[in-house]
Amino acid sequence: MKPSKITEGVYSLRVNHFNRRLFDSLIPLPQGTSYNAYLVKGSEKTALLDTADPEKAEVLFDFLKDEKVDYIVAHHAEQDHSGSIPRVLEKYPQAKVVTNPKCREFLMTHLHLPADKFIEVKDGETLSLGGKTLEFVYLPWVHWPETMGTYLREDKVLFSCDFFGSHLATGELFAEEHLVYEPMKRYFAEIMMPFRSNIKSNLEKLAKYRLEFIAPSHGPVHSDPKFALDVYRDWAVSDAKNKALVAYISMHGSTYALVNRLVSRLQERGVCVEKINLDQFDEGRVAMALVDSATVVIGTPTVLTGPHPKVVYAAHLANLLRPKTKYVSIIGSFGWAGRAVETLSGLIPNLKVEVLKPTLVKGLPTEADLKQMDELADLIAEKHKGLAACCADGCLA
Ligand code: FEO
Repeated sequence: MKPSKITEGVYSLRVNHFNRRLFDSLIPLPQGTSYNAYLVKGSEKTALLDTADPEKAEVLFDFLKDEKVDYIVAHHAEQDHSGSIPRVLEKYPQAKVVTNPKCREFLMTHLHLPADKFIEVKDGETLSLGGKTLEFVYLPWVHWPETMGTYLREDKVLFSCDFFGSHLATGELFAEEHLVYEPMKRYFAEIMMPFRSNIKSNLEKLAKYRLEFIAPSHGPVHSDPKFALDVYRDWAVSDAKNKALVAYISMHGSTYALVNRLVSRLQERGVCVEKINLDQFDEGRVAMALVDSATVVIGTPTVLTGPHPKVVYAAHLANLLRPKTKYVSIIGSFGWAGRAVETLSGLIPNLKVEVLKPTLVKGLPTEADLKQMDELADLIAEKHKGLAACCADGCLA
C-alpha cells in the first residue's frame, strides 16, 4: 500500500480496521475504526508519527516497506497507537522514539522499551527534519495524562492524537462532515467526555495555532479544522441542550406505559427526546445521547427488590462518563416492594444533578400515576427553558 499524500512531504498511513466491532471491549463500532500513523519527510530526516494496533501491524509495515524512518514520535502510550513501536524499532534499529517524559515512562513500563531508545521533548520544543519543523504540544488528559500532539509549522498541520478522532474506517483521506459527525461523537462520548474540563483548556491552548489540517489518530483527516474545533466546543464546553434521554427497560409493560406517556408529553412541550430501550442496547448510542441531554430519565422495573441489572449497568456507565446532565429522574414499577430509586441514586455520585421527583408505581399505572408523568414533563420543560435546541441526530422530537 502507498501512503496517501496530505500535503507536500506529509503522508497518511491509515490502518483501517473495518471489521472491529467493539472498542475497549465496550463500545460497538458500527463503522469500524482506524489507527492512523503519519509520515513527515524533511530534506534531512523522516519522522513516523505513531504506529498502529499490533493486531493490524502488517498493514503498517506494508506502508513502510519503501520508507526510511529516523524518528518515531509517540503521542500517546495506549497500545492502539504505540503497540507496534517495538516492531518498528526492529525494522529501524537506528531510530529514536521522540516523546515526553511521562509517555516515555509509560512506554517503558507498558511495552518494555529500553531507556536508551528515547529523545525526551518538552512542551513547545521543536525538532527540525530539514524544512519541516515539528513543534510538540502537550495535550494532557485527552484522554491519558501523557498525551501530546505535534504541530507541523510550515504546513500548519496539527497531529492531534485521539483528540478530534472518529470511529470510522474509510478509504477517504479527508473527512466529509455529514459522514464523520456521528463517528466523532461516538468517539468523544466514550473517550473524551469524562475529561471535558481538560478538553476545554486544551482547546484554548490550540487557539493560537493557524490550522490547515487536523490529522487525528482515528478516522479521516479534517481538511476543515473549524468543523472539528466547533463540534468539540459544542460537546465539551457548551451547555446541555433541550433534550431528554429516556432510557428504560420494561418487563410486563408497566414501566413502558409510564415511559410512553412521559415521552409523548415531553414532545408536546417541545422537549427533544431520545428514547432507548436498554433491553438490547448500544452503549455508544447511550453515550452519545448523554453528550447533549440536559435531563436523563431512567425507567426500570423491579427485579428481586432492586432495579433491573441492565439498568444498573447503564447507570454505572453514565456515572463513569460524567456527562453535563443537569436533571435526573427515575420512574418505574414494582410488584410488591423494592428499593430501585435508592439503589440507582447511589450509583451516580459523579453526576452533579438535581433529582426530579421519582415515580414508582405498583403494577400497571393508573390514570393518576400517568398524570404524574404529565407533571414530570411540565417540570422538565420548565427546567429546560432557555436551553438551546438539540441537534436532530437520533431524536424523536
Ligand atoms: Fe486511540 Fe487513547 O488511544
